[in-house]
Amino acid sequence: MFLLLGLANTFVHGQGTRVGFYSRTCPRAEVIVRSTVESHFRSNPAIAPGILRMHFHDCFVQGCDGSVLIDGPNTEKSTVPNSGIPGYAAIDAAKTQLESACPGVVSCADILALAARDAVVLTKGFSWQVPTGRRDGRVSLAADVSSLPTPTESIEAQEQKFSIKGLNTQDLVTLVGAHTIGTTACRFFSNRLYNFSTTTASGADPTINPSFVPTLRALCPQNGDGARLVDLDTGSAGRFDTTFFTNLRNGRGVLQSDQLLWTDPSTRTIAERFLRVRGAQSLNFNVEFAKSMVKMSNIGVKSGTQGEIRRVRFSCGGLTMTLLPPSTILLKGAYVGTSSVCTGCNQAAETTEHALLCCEAVDELVCCNRNAWVFEGKSLSFEQILIAVKALGCFDPASECLAIRSGMAFATELGLRVEEIESDSVNAVNDNEF
Ligand code: HEM
Repeated sequence: MFLLLGLANTFVHGQGTRVGFYSRTCPRAEVIVRSTVESHFRSNPAIAPGILRMHFHDCFVQGCDGSVLIDGPNTEKSTVPNSGIPGYAAIDAAKTQLESACPGVVSCADILALAARDAVVLTKGFSWQVPTGRRDGRVSLAADVSSLPTPTESIEAQEQKFSIKGLNTQDLVTLVGAHTIGTTACRFFSNRLYNFSTTTASGADPTINPSFVPTLRALCPQNGDGARLVDLDTGSAGRFDTTFFTNLRNGRGVLQSDQLLWTDPSTRTIAERFLRVRGAQSLNFNVEFAKSMVKMSNIGVKSGTQGEIRRVRFSCGGLTMTLLPPSTILLKGAYVGTSSVCTGCNQAAETTEHALLCCEAVDELVCCNRNAWVFEGKSLSFEQILIAVKALGCFDPASECLAIRSGMAFATELGLRVEEIESDSVNAVNDNEF
């Protein structure tokens, strides 16, 4: 069943996102995302749960700003919860397509939010309208993933982690219902199967239905391969439906945190309502899921002048970022674009300045020297660069290098002191005199 939910038709207040944000600037944006996700799904259906989970992990860390997509050491993506998620290639492929259709317009954060909705639809869940207009963040730190819930946490701890993000207990139960699709590695629950409790004859977690223990043990033998994948929703892992909650009712939840949703009275009442077919107490899981997803996908959204539209190498993961200490780096100049005219660049010495202004500080810092900044082969003085920063806000949009404005915003975001030189000769820049 396919239902188009008319949620959040206009602005989601206070968040800066709205349905149809790209209707003028990139009318085919949503179609392009959908068709790319569909074609990747056809060759690997595992990307649907992967993308849904990725969006959740994006939103819970630094807000829904595409930070989970950034490649590199010590980024969110490099951590255990994120490194193995299937679907990154589909997001990058959509970005590539969008950069040729509408360069520099559609953010990676929006692509991920749209793709998560498409993933639900591909697994036979309901559709909904996704408010868009997110901008991409530039900060992605491995340490920040600690805000994600873990499968051994109590309901209280889970509620706490959701509540910090503005999500209530009903959102928690509903959104964890995403486990109606996809898999978990044995390592995330095999502790429940062996020597977990002295109150059961088998030693297994007493909240597991005893008849289900041998099934799980066969899938995840003691000291076996912790990476082996097991369906989260036994019997219906490829379909977005309420079987996940039926399984919880029957003591057949796989993750400890999932089964606790049924054990704990505060969450069980909500899970029970998803299983009621009719009556005032019944809740439609698909409808509620869409509502909670719109809430989740507005967590910490960057809009307006915050963040940027990532476009390095036309992929969402291409950001190579050097995180700078919050100190007093002076903005000495800018390197924009690539050029082959200068040589002898001292990468180590230049990196901090370029990281401010050019996301590809490491890869593209190939031709500059400290006092001769180069733009398309022409040297710029420091003053000219600063005039350009002020006058244009950004440089050549076709360049693979990020706009200067992003660099300025990034510097400010990191609390760096940026020294600017006042100048009246803005027109010189507008006239392309350099
Ligand atoms: C208390 C909250 C949650 C906990 C503790 C949790 C934990 C987990 C764990 C341990 C896995 C298996 C990961 C692996 O094997 O690599 C998983 C998978 C998954 N999670 Fe969650 N999760 C939570 C909430 C959510 C939410 C809110 C969503 C989405 C809205 C979500 C979507 C998924 C999906 C779709 C999968 C399957 C991924 C795949 O097959 O690739 N989870 N989760």
